[in-house]
Amino acid sequence: MAFPINLILPFLFFFYLTRISFSAFTPTDNYLINSGANTNTSFFSIRSFLSDSSKPGSSFLITDRSISLSDPNPPPDSPVLYQSVRIFPSGGSSSSSSPSSYKFPVTNKGTHFIRLHFAPFKAPRFNLRSAKFQVLINGFLVMDGFSTDSVVVKEFVLKIDDSVLEISFLPSKSSGFGFINAIEVFSAPKDYIIDQGTKLVIPNSAQIFSNLSSQVLETVHRINVGGLKVTPFNDTLWRTWLVDDKYLLLKGAAKRASSTHPPNYQSGGATREIAPDNVYMTAQEMNRENQELQARFNISWGFPIESKRVLHLVRLHFCDIVSSSVNQLYFNVFINDYLAFRDVDLSTLNFHVLAAPLYIDFVVESDGSGVLRISVGPSELSNPLRANALLNGVEVMRILSPVSSKVGSGKKNIVVWIVVGSVLGGFLLLLLLVLCVLCVCKRKKKTKRSESTRWTPMRRFRGSSNSRTTEGTVSSNGYHTLRISFAEIQSGTNNFDRSLVIGVGGFGMVFKGSLNDNTKVAVKRGVPGSRQGLPEFLSEITILSKIRHRHLVSLVGYCEEQSEMILVYEYMDKGPLRSHLYGSSNSPLSWKQRLEVCIGAARGLHYLHTGSSQGIIHRDIKSTNILLDDNFVAKVADFGLSRSGPCLDETHVSTGVKGSFGYLDPEYFRRQQLTDKSDVYSFGVVLFEVLCARPAVDPLLVREQVNLAEWAIEWQKKGMLDQIVDPNIADQIKPCSLKKFAETAEKCCADYGVDRPTIGDVLWNLEHVLQLQESGPLDNPEEVYGDVTEPGTAREGPSSGSNTERDSGDDGTSGIINSSQVFSQLMTNAGR
Ligand SMILES: *[C@@H]1O[C@H](CO)[C@@H](O)[C@H](O)[C@H]1NC(C)=O
Ligand SMILES: *[C@@H]1O[C@H](CO)[C@@H](O)[C@H](O)[C@H]1NC(C)=O
Ligand SMILES: *[C@@H]1O[C@H](CO)[C@@H](O)[C@H](O)[C@H]1NC(C)=O
Ligand SMILES: *[C@@H]1O[C@H](CO)[C@@H](O)[C@H](O)[C@H]1NC(C)=O
Repeated sequence: MAFPINLILPFLFFFYLTRISFSAFTPTDNYLINSGANTNTSFFSIRSFLSDSSKPGSSFLITDRSISLSDPNPPPDSPVLYQSVRIFPSGGSSSSSSPSSYKFPVTNKGTHFIRLHFAPFKAPRFNLRSAKFQVLINGFLVMDGFSTDSVVVKEFVLKIDDSVLEISFLPSKSSGFGFINAIEVFSAPKDYIIDQGTKLVIPNSAQIFSNLSSQVLETVHRINVGGLKVTPFNDTLWRTWLVDDKYLLLKGAAKRASSTHPPNYQSGGATREIAPDNVYMTAQEMNRENQELQARFNISWGFPIESKRVLHLVRLHFCDIVSSSVNQLYFNVFINDYLAFRDVDLSTLNFHVLAAPLYIDFVVESDGSGVLRISVGPSELSNPLRANALLNGVEVMRILSPVSSKVGSGKKNIVVWIVVGSVLGGFLLLLLLVLCVLCVCKRKKKTKRSESTRWTPMRRFRGSSNSRTTEGTVSSNGYHTLRISFAEIQSGTNNFDRSLVIGVGGFGMVFKGSLNDNTKVAVKRGVPGSRQGLPEFLSEITILSKIRHRHLVSLVGYCEEQSEMILVYEYMDKGPLRSHLYGSSNSPLSWKQRLEVCIGAARGLHYLHTGSSQGIIHRDIKSTNILLDDNFVAKVADFGLSRSGPCLDETHVSTGVKGSFGYLDPEYFRRQQLTDKSDVYSFGVVLFEVLCARPAVDPLLVREQVNLAEWAIEWQKKGMLDQIVDPNIADQIKPCSLKKFAETAEKCCADYGVDRPTIGDVLWNLEHVLQLQESGPLDNPEEVYGDVTEPGTAREGPSSGSNTERDSGDDGTSGIINSSQVFSQLMTNAGR
């Protein structure tokens, strides 16, 4: 007999809840020691701490001389665990250099938690409050000159690569002894600390911190924001989470929020081990009823930290328990007043699931003030009536490791910044980069003499004005020939006349200008005297000097005199693609023109992805970064955010999220991993933009329409995309070409990168769309060249040219391009 489903469901739900609350994490390595005690004891009635006084060899204790004591007058509420202690007097070891220690075998190498409990009391002969000592973990000094007069639990999280973990105690000469009450050592859940996606918080940088899992971390604060204290009893990893009230800087700004439903854990987001349910089920949100505050304000917390300049890991926990539906909440995160994460959209980060937990790691250098400030506030994108921001939990961990040797390339730049501390310093770095590139170029030259001009074509632009150029010397080959004097730029832009401004970006202003030889140029000037954007500046020069293509905006030169950072590009008469779609007085492009522009941009992007040995990911594809020249030829611009692609067997580049809202790959958000498929996603959004002539994100529209990609895909799924096509072109599009175009755009916007086509496939499909438009039947969407293919499939292309020459624009990797015919234009158009 079958049960009615509505009876079973509540039961299942109940069962589900029950199962969750009792399915605890079981660490592989798990050592709990009740130091100095004769008996085993439990702590918070859940875990058993074993006595270390049992027979030698079985207690992990390695020492020649130690004393176990119990508290003669334990306070009434003192846990049994804290009523006994092991004391290590100095000279404990006969060979005075080896200290007393505990040694634990490690069966599961990787990240481990180590908690050391110190509960000083007064015993005959030993007043533990006067003890002073060092603690080392596998020889690494984690506590120096430690002394306490109240209960302290020190927690360290670190990777153990050895098969043994040794915790040593070294008394200072002055006190003559050290002590310990209890020890916890256990393996952390897999992926508790990961290397990907850690953002380095320094002004205006897209830096990442690449080696987090190798650092030794010491927990400083662990806060359940907006909630109650969570004790080890309720926490999956036996942690303690304190309340946030006393850290709130303006209490009236915040309001507690809580949820009665357990969080919707999503794979790829946070897990119950990252933080317990209680943390994600409570938060502080903006107290918008507070009449004294403006419509937009921040909620801010100040956490006391060491006043030295040291790095901290700041892990912020989020779970949208305040919105009634997805895509309502957009907020900014500030750390120490720097914009650490702009336009956080928890819906996008979390598969469009509400109340799905998530955490974001930041590595922050403290500013020496002794306070770490964290603020959340509404983003510009939020609807003013619903503007809100929230925070569910905070963990602050000090990074103990010596930084210099343990950080990735991103961090190296920062060390240089700190040391040199000036723009000039930055240019030292530039020089180094130049030298590196020169070396590479030189090597290439040797092996590929015939191609050398392809890689140094900028001399054609500047060669005439640079007579120093001598073949064979360093300066003949690279940046020097690209240098333009400040005076020339100044006169060419009428001394940066405001009326010549054609754009403003994060980097600075863009002016229209001309050079001495009357070449029209666009001049991008970084804010004078500021180091802002230096990494982008360097990145752009490095990348642009390596590539040249008909569908990529060329760098004409640069200027770095007088602490200026100026980039000079070829001038694009018709400006950004967007201004020919909507929001300007330009007459809208025809469908055929739009297709040609898309094909051109796809070519440029394809060249970026495959044209150099490493491949380059653009990172910021959008309709304002596709520029049109005199003849409406599309060129991809703005490589300031570009990164070289993955090398060898890596399949992604991890990096701080940087890019433009509405175009950002949702997978990149979730996993903080950047692939060329992230560009494909953004390009798909551009395709929809071209078709529908509206912005990628329009916060003023009703919710379902805010995000163009989502909205368009919904219509596409209903088979009614034609309903939202730009009315200006609706009657020009043949149904077969619309169908193919829409399929292509939809595939580009697939949730997962693996499901998206490569840009080469996209290019092929767009050419097909154009052919269908030109020659296809008026109403029959039958395929002429076969169906759109799965990503990565090789095929012959419908090239109009007969040129079968390989794309020699790439650096010897042409072999990876299967359908050389399709891309023959890469070759024929590349020479300028
Ligand atoms: C403590 O527990 C361990 C393991 O369960 C056991 O081997 C040992 O005998 C116990 N010690 C005492 C003093 O009860
Ligand atoms: C911790 O667990 C106990 C027992 O289940 C419960 O009474 C208490 O409310 C929990 N604490 C929190 C902060 O949820
Ligand atoms: C929020 O705080 C940041 C950093 O202190 C500040 O730049 C920003 O203007 C503040 N926003 C509002 C709305 O007060
Ligand atoms: C990370 O740091 C560890 C410890 O210093 C070092 O051994 C390792 O090579 C580093 N890895 C990377 C990728 O920098």
